[in-house]
Amino acid sequence: MPDVIVGKASDFKDPGRKVVDISGTEIGVFRLGDDFFAYHNICPHLDGPACQGKILPCATEDVQADRTSAGRVYSKTQTNVICPWHGFEFDIRTGRHPTDASVRLRPVPVKVLNGDVLVSVPNRS
Ligand code: FES
Repeated sequence: MPDVIVGKASDFKDPGRKVVDISGTEIGVFRLGDDFFAYHNICPHLDGPACQGKILPCATEDVQADRTSAGRVYSKTQTNVICPWHGFEFDIRTGRHPTDASVRLRPVPVKVLNGDVLVSVPNRS
């Protein structure tokens, strides 16, 4: 399938996302700064619409030497999308689950050309 324009790069919030349907294939297109990422909108857990979840900084617990928590810490470099069905999180830059790299969203090629965001959806087979 040829590249398909899904919008102007400037129309995306930062961080932001748009979910598009291209000939029956749902694709989540994300913006983080000047970078764009795209994935099939299918969660590897139970096929939920993972790309439609909340976009949040990765949160971890600040565990002290005595193994108590000093509260949550929010990443300044990693932003996740959280599947709305059961809460699996995926790093928007890699599509991977933060603690199990084998669990990941299926990537779709995306690029920006002359201000337009284009995705290339492989043919179904
Ligand atoms: S379907 Fe996405 S977390 Fe279960």
